[in-house]
Amino acid sequence: MTQKYAVTVAGGGSTFTPGIVLMLLKESSRFPIRKIMLYDNDPGRQKVIAEACGIYLRENAPEIEFGYTDDPREAFTEIDFVLAHIRVGKYAMREKDEKIPLKYGVVGQETCGPGGIAYGMRSIGGVLEILDYMEAYSPEAWMLNYSNPAAIVAEATHRLRPKSKILNICDMPIDLEEKMAGIAGLKSRKEMQVGYYGLNHFGWWHQIYDKAGNDLMPVIRAYIAENGFPVSAEQHVDDSWAHTFKMAREVYAIDPETIPNTYLKYYLFPYEIAAGLDPEYTRANEVIDGREKKIFSVCREIIEKGTSSGSGFEADAHATYIVDLARAIAENTLERFLLIVPNEGAIENFERSAMVEIPCIVGKNGYEKICQGRIPRFQKGMMEQQVSVEKLVVDAWIEGSYQKLWQALTLSKTVPSAAVAKIILDEFIQANQGYWPELT
Ligand code: NAD
Ligand code: G6P
Ligand code: MN
Repeated sequence: MTQKYAVTVAGGGSTFTPGIVLMLLKESSRFPIRKIMLYDNDPGRQKVIAEACGIYLRENAPEIEFGYTDDPREAFTEIDFVLAHIRVGKYAMREKDEKIPLKYGVVGQETCGPGGIAYGMRSIGGVLEILDYMEAYSPEAWMLNYSNPAAIVAEATHRLRPKSKILNICDMPIDLEEKMAGIAGLKSRKEMQVGYYGLNHFGWWHQIYDKAGNDLMPVIRAYIAENGFPVSAEQHVDDSWAHTFKMAREVYAIDPETIPNTYLKYYLFPYEIAAGLDPEYTRANEVIDGREKKIFSVCREIIEKGTSSGSGFEADAHATYIVDLARAIAENTLERFLLIVPNEGAIENFERSAMVEIPCIVGKNGYEKICQGRIPRFQKGMMEQQVSVEKLVVDAWIEGSYQKLWQALTLSKTVPSAAVAKIILDEFIQANQGYWPELT
């Protein structure tokens, strides 16, 4: 009999949970599931999502055991995988992460610049807590983490829980690779073999081949030089995302040898981006008025009607990479993924202890890194600055150091001066009371 897996979704109340649960069902021939458990520390929020998922599962896969809880023991006992997508502080705090810097003309973004730093200071404790629960109740389990800010979370978990079975992964390169496969006339990103180096939300493709070994970079570069990335139908569809994809053209122009991750726009055009944002209505507001409203109203409708049929509940087609990754571990598929891992020489001329995003081969015993060689001066310079920001945030969290956090903010390429960094920091401290460690 083939093995069936038990999965806990941490952050059960997330807007992404229904899409993930349906995706797990859809992919169950590749990755058989015996149990899905949702865990969240906000039981009220989770209940809506979970009750609706429960109805869907009873109607479509009654053989799968399903439950939801805010009790860690119940959530993490006898499971094989934790899929972690928590947002410590939820959208209310994301809004502050974005709006406080913007008041001072500084990029307001959930993972880049000051917003990501503030979010990191909240997220580290939340992710460590879940990792500890998993290890206490299911020591053999693996955590697939895509809770943000992934760069800071990865640095913190690597430093504080170096032996933990956690893989940190981001879906942005996956979406961009799908787009590039389309540009090159391929059906899927899986038909490409890529070389990529960087940090999370801060990286570059430097090689892209098809299965026959043909170089796809020329055709992709020509397209991006002209158009940026295309917008696709399923994911990252709002106007603000369309802007991001288009702007890849300007980001690309700075180094036409490589293809940039779209998040680099925040670091390379911080003032232009900030000037174009509405300080009263940021991405958090878009998500609250868009995705959150939609998902919660669909869930409430399912609960009221007592059935999910005709609800328009949809599998997150784009999230199949999570099943690919879980299968890689469970079935030793040795598939390649971009993971956020300790460098240790994989990028030859870059700090050994940095957490870098590079291609890895994943199997039963974890990952093997694929060396990316030497990187150019421009990328190296940018990465050195940014990795120092990320390391200083983790230092600040561990030591409770105001000074280190001020340094982190000052060093961010998105912040114009130490004075502005200090103003933002002091406001963040007020806003994050109860979420951040006390800083002295
Ligand atoms: P959301 O606010 O809808 O959901 C997050 C859930 O986490 C909430 O229900 C909240 O109560 C819960 N939570 C917060 N702290 C917790 C804790 N300590 N323990 C358990 N549960 C906790 O947010 P969302 O927009 O659905 O995003 C969820 C997360 O996924 C975010 O971190 C987001 O940045 C991340 N994300 C990452 C990627 C990626 O590629 N890396 C892609 C999409 C989303
Ligand atoms: C991409 C990134 C994620 C990020 C998400 C934000 O998928 O890779 O790390 O969380 O975008 O999307 P949102 O719709 O919440 O702004
Ligand atoms: Mn990401």
